[in-house]
Amino acid sequence: MCGIVAYMGEKQAYPILINGLRRLEYRGYDSAGVALLREGDLNVYKCQGKVSDLEAHTMGKELGGTVGIGHTRWATHGPPNDVNAHPHQSTSGDLALIHNGIIENYAAIKEELLHRGHSFQSDTDTEVLVHLIDDIQRSEGVDLAEAVRLALNSVVGAYAIVVLDRKDPDVMVAARKSSPLVIGIGDGEHFLASDATPIVEHTKNVVYLEDGEIAVIDRRKGLKIRNIKNQVKTPFIQELEMHLETLEKGGYDHFMLKEIHEQPRSIRDSMRGRLNLAKGEVVLGGITDYEQKFVQAKRILIVGCGTSWHAGLVGEYLFEELARIPVEVEYASEFRYRNPVINEDDIVIAISQSGETADTLAAIELAKGKGATIIGICNVVGSSIARVTHAGSYTHAGPEIGVASTKAFTAQVTVLTLMALMIGQRKGTIAGSRFHRLLNELDAIPAKVEKVLQGEAQIKYIADIYKEASNALYLGRGYSFPVALEGALKLKEISYIHAEGYPAAEMKHGPIALIDEEMPVFVIATKGASYEKVVSNIQEVKARKGKIIAIVTEGDTVVDGLADHVIGIPDTADPLVPLLSVIPLQLISYHIAVMRGCNVDQPRNLAKSVTVE
Ligand code: G6P
Repeated sequence: MCGIVAYMGEKQAYPILINGLRRLEYRGYDSAGVALLREGDLNVYKCQGKVSDLEAHTMGKELGGTVGIGHTRWATHGPPNDVNAHPHQSTSGDLALIHNGIIENYAAIKEELLHRGHSFQSDTDTEVLVHLIDDIQRSEGVDLAEAVRLALNSVVGAYAIVVLDRKDPDVMVAARKSSPLVIGIGDGEHFLASDATPIVEHTKNVVYLEDGEIAVIDRRKGLKIRNIKNQVKTPFIQELEMHLETLEKGGYDHFMLKEIHEQPRSIRDSMRGRLNLAKGEVVLGGITDYEQKFVQAKRILIVGCGTSWHAGLVGEYLFEELARIPVEVEYASEFRYRNPVINEDDIVIAISQSGETADTLAAIELAKGKGATIIGICNVVGSSIARVTHAGSYTHAGPEIGVASTKAFTAQVTVLTLMALMIGQRKGTIAGSRFHRLLNELDAIPAKVEKVLQGEAQIKYIADIYKEASNALYLGRGYSFPVALEGALKLKEISYIHAEGYPAAEMKHGPIALIDEEMPVFVIATKGASYEKVVSNIQEVKARKGKIIAIVTEGDTVVDGLADHVIGIPDTADPLVPLLSVIPLQLISYHIAVMRGCNVDQPRNLAKSVTVE
């Protein structure tokens, strides 16, 4: 959470910072600020609200300077207000610092600094760190980089920071631990950011700072990296594969809508080079070295949060059915704190769009420490999770900017399907004919998603009918149960309607009490193993006057006669239904949220990348 960006070069920093902050706004958007160094002045502007509010706030102010830092916040310590917004400054006003993460021992450090005469303006942990650096700089008589290094040695927690010093305007110091930081290397200029999106339009050459590293960017001497133990590190420069157009709305009203519509392509990209119909095989290059481990695995644990956890649940059904390996799906946040039993022959699959989710990262470290093999499924190339796992397969969904995850979910499910198919085939747990049928069906999925998207007008019509609902229920069985959970999550997170996902049969054990004529009930009732059972569940809802919106297989006439609305999706094999049935649910949530006037891409209180536990 929180996005940070910094610039040093020949150009004016302010427009680069503002543009960068807009790109990073998905990481938090309750307050924003910049600090600019110009001719011996350090100008700091910050305010509550979004980056657009910051722009209004800075109107007419001195915005010159070729060095600067910027921050967009998701509040942890202290409410979102002007004072708690970053950058934070030392008492002298010489230092300005931006921070993404949490300084866990800030209270103890603060107390010590209060004794030493420091006073604080904000409620944040970050302000403590800038005072600590300032204190060390003065008491030890060291330069900024060394003061940052010494300060970080006494800090417990997670951070990506950038610090400016008015006394040394040609130097910028950055450091990271457990929060991401990317350095862009341009021609006579350097960029720093929480991810590569603010950098890509300026340079494709980047260095991903490693945990415990400190980067010193000096206008004259360029970039130097060392770690907090003072060992010199050689920067590893990589080329970005990101394209600018993937970061723009491309004619859509919202990123979320664009990302929903990108799914035929993103699913195809996640299969490209992996599914070979001609040869009748699946090859996931990133995990071939671990194939044997999978084949011998006694158990698979899947960890993730939010939508990624829902994808993990689909993975459970896939691996158990196709590869006959027992699977447990865990919320990373629960798993990490309950002393789980983990064995060396366990495989842990960590799923994360951002690759930065703090709880998922911690769950990986825990399982790794106990000797398990960790396989990552991440979307962001070079992200922390992608780097700490033993092996993995990227989803190739492209940057996902809308806070509500859509194309990342279908890309995760696609990769899980490929994985389960590949392992199932190696283990001999899928009959050859079924394997080939599933490969063909999977290959046909992007075109079928396209077809579902063509039904958007009907979905919009249904959204209009239910836009004022206060509650909604989502029901599904088997592979469609995780989709019911995901549909409910989509609705609540962007339209603020209370929604619950339930296994359709479990409805009788509680939620049925809520059903009346006001309650929309979304039911996934596609043809397949549990079809008849779900039809019975629909009857039960109907008998209580609930309004039924059913996702059915095209041509279904039975449910058509029962439900208030049916949305047809193309027929496919049971394990692949989630890739199609989730699409109408994403669209319904999107349109309801728009009709209710909600900020679809930046829903209240949420952030896309949750780098705090
Ligand atoms: C946040 C996002 C969700 C996402 C979850 C897990 O809550 O708003 O969209 O599913 O984090 O994030 P990850 O990046 O690990 O998939």
